[in-house]
Amino acid sequence: MDDLVCIEGLSKVHYGAGLLKRRARTVRAVDDVTLTIGCNTIMGLVGESGSGKSTLARAVLYLDRPSAGSVEIDGLNPAVLSRAQMKLFRQRAQIVVQDPHAALNPRRSVAASVAEGLRNRGVPRCARERRVAELLEMVGIPARRGRDHPEQFSGGQRQRIVIARALAMDPRFLILDEPVSSLDVSIQAQIINLLLDLKHQLALTYLFISHDLNLVAYISDSIAVMKQGRIVEQGDAADVIAHPQQAYTQMLFQSAPRLFDTDPGRR
Ligand SMILES: Nc1ncnc2c1ncn2[C@@H]1O[C@H](COP(=O)(O)OP(=O)(O)OP(=O)(O)O)[C@@H](O)[C@H]1O
Ligand SMILES: [Mg+2]
Repeated sequence: MDDLVCIEGLSKVHYGAGLLKRRARTVRAVDDVTLTIGCNTIMGLVGESGSGKSTLARAVLYLDRPSAGSVEIDGLNPAVLSRAQMKLFRQRAQIVVQDPHAALNPRRSVAASVAEGLRNRGVPRCARERRVAELLEMVGIPARRGRDHPEQFSGGQRQRIVIARALAMDPRFLILDEPVSSLDVSIQAQIINLLLDLKHQLALTYLFISHDLNLVAYISDSIAVMKQGRIVEQGDAADVIAHPQQAYTQMLFQSAPRLFDTDPGRR
């Protein structure tokens, strides 16, 4: 199987001022991370709060420039790309984060938010409107509701709209950073099923970050475990769950509230 995402030796150091400004604090939030994600697969990324998952996500997408190491997504290495190619990289790899409220501009209609990337790409108005209607329907929002504003939607619907906006760029890779953590449990399942359907329909590849290990176990093909900026364990999801090699991984999974269904036919 081909890899879509290759991350090699990636590090990210945060330079933050400490409480006393004289003592500048540096945090090696991501430390020498090497990972590959196969085309059309889901890698689950788990680890304690503060282990560096979100920092890794942003560094992989070059939203924050890595301190060291390299990234290649769909054959594109952002460190060496021209401006035009960088645009393509920004389209191919998208991120969806936890809070769909903060992600949408409250003053714009959701259709305008979904259309933003298309407008930037110079897609003519007619085609844009057609595409936005199609994207909204694809995520389960009736196209006629495009003229409504974010506050007229529930949290789950807003997350659907954020997903539609990401899909507008025709991505091949999505980083989902706690995409359902802010939602009610009943809604979480609907969004997860939507994400699985979209992955199937559009041949997408996901890096799925979550505190919910049950969810990660359910959704992932492979799992990577992060601790203090480093990947301490990675492998086939069923293997990592059934035979965790590290005490840290065992601890994470043992502290998860429900039992896992490790049956490979679980989906
Ligand atoms: N912009 C920043 N400046 C300085 N330090 C930061 C910054 N962002 C994150 N950190 C630090 O980097 C480390 C990793 O943080 P990060 O948010 O990546 O963890 P995380 O695994 O995503 O945590 P959570 O599960 O709570 O979302 C933490 O020690 C955090 O305090
Ligand atoms: Mg985070």
